[in-house]
Amino acid sequence: MTTGLGFVDRYGPWAVVAGASEGLGRAFATEIARRGLNLMLVARKEAALQQTAGELCEAHGVETAVLALDMGAPDAIDRIADAVGDREVGFIVANAAFVPIGQFSEIAPADLDQAIAVNCRGTLQLARRFLPPMAARGRGGMVVMASMAGLQGTPMLTTYAATKAFDLVLAEGLWQEFGKHGVHVIGSAAGAIADPNLAKVKTKRAPGTLSPDAVVSETLAALGKGPRVVPGRTNKFASVLMSRLLPRQAAVRIMAMNTKDLRAG
Ligand SMILES: NC(=O)c1ccc[n+]([C@@H]2O[C@H](COP(=O)([O-])OP(=O)(O)OC[C@H]3O[C@@H](n4cnc5c(N)ncnc54)[C@H](OP(=O)(O)O)[C@@H]3O)[C@@H](O)[C@H]2O)c1
Repeated sequence: MTTGLGFVDRYGPWAVVAGASEGLGRAFATEIARRGLNLMLVARKEAALQQTAGELCEAHGVETAVLALDMGAPDAIDRIADAVGDREVGFIVANAAFVPIGQFSEIAPADLDQAIAVNCRGTLQLARRFLPPMAARGRGGMVVMASMAGLQGTPMLTTYAATKAFDLVLAEGLWQEFGKHGVHVIGSAAGAIADPNLAKVKTKRAPGTLSPDAVVSETLAALGKGPRVVPGRTNKFASVLMSRLLPRQAAVRIMAMNTKDLRAG
């Protein structure tokens, strides 16, 4: 029984954050370190990971390790497990994502495969590798970063949206299966997040845009309370409208209006 445990006792001592070099993943790593967990930071940009690792170590006195790899590579999860070694991982954040932007017919087939490899297979295999040992210990947690784009078809982000629908449904099943063993899984269907990458591809700030810190805080607060969180009040309202109240064709058309200014970054 894990009721009443603090963050470190419930989710420590080590967390793995996949996609930790910038943006939301870096914000997750920072908050998790602030709460006292040691961190294994994973992404492709090693220098950015090293810099974050150094800063977190100095600011919060936690241990850190970095691993530079492509989450879409077939051996990615084996390499993470090797790097983890005998460290006890009690928390994982599946945040890395690849976002092919544009008309479906103009996106290279290899990019479609990479979206599946990073956004679906990477998340799936992280869960498969690290959740069962947590269940055996009777505690732990996982954040599956998804998107409101995954609540319905989203033109110009068609493949990305489909991968995020996969992530949300995956998180729901895992929430039930592992919740019975004291492991909290949450799928976070974030709306627009204010970050440099969003600014690269979108000219106007979308309604309901949140800071990375706000998404992290609301997502972590939702652990153990249910299978899914939509951070932000505006986004919660929009998600009910889009997925429950409007006919599907209207929801998809609204998304098409919202994504028509997107351009490949
Ligand atoms: N930004 C938004 O508005 C928004 C909205 C809703 C949901 N989300 C979700 O939130 C999450 C983070 O989004 P973000 O905007 O912060 O993304 P981002 O700035 O593009 O960062 C993604 C992170 O994943 C890493 N990454 C990307 N491809 C990778 C790969 N093949 N292998 C390993 N690491 C990889 C990136 O680092 P490297 O480049 O160093 O590998 C980076 O650290 C994603 O799951 C996304 O679906 C974002």
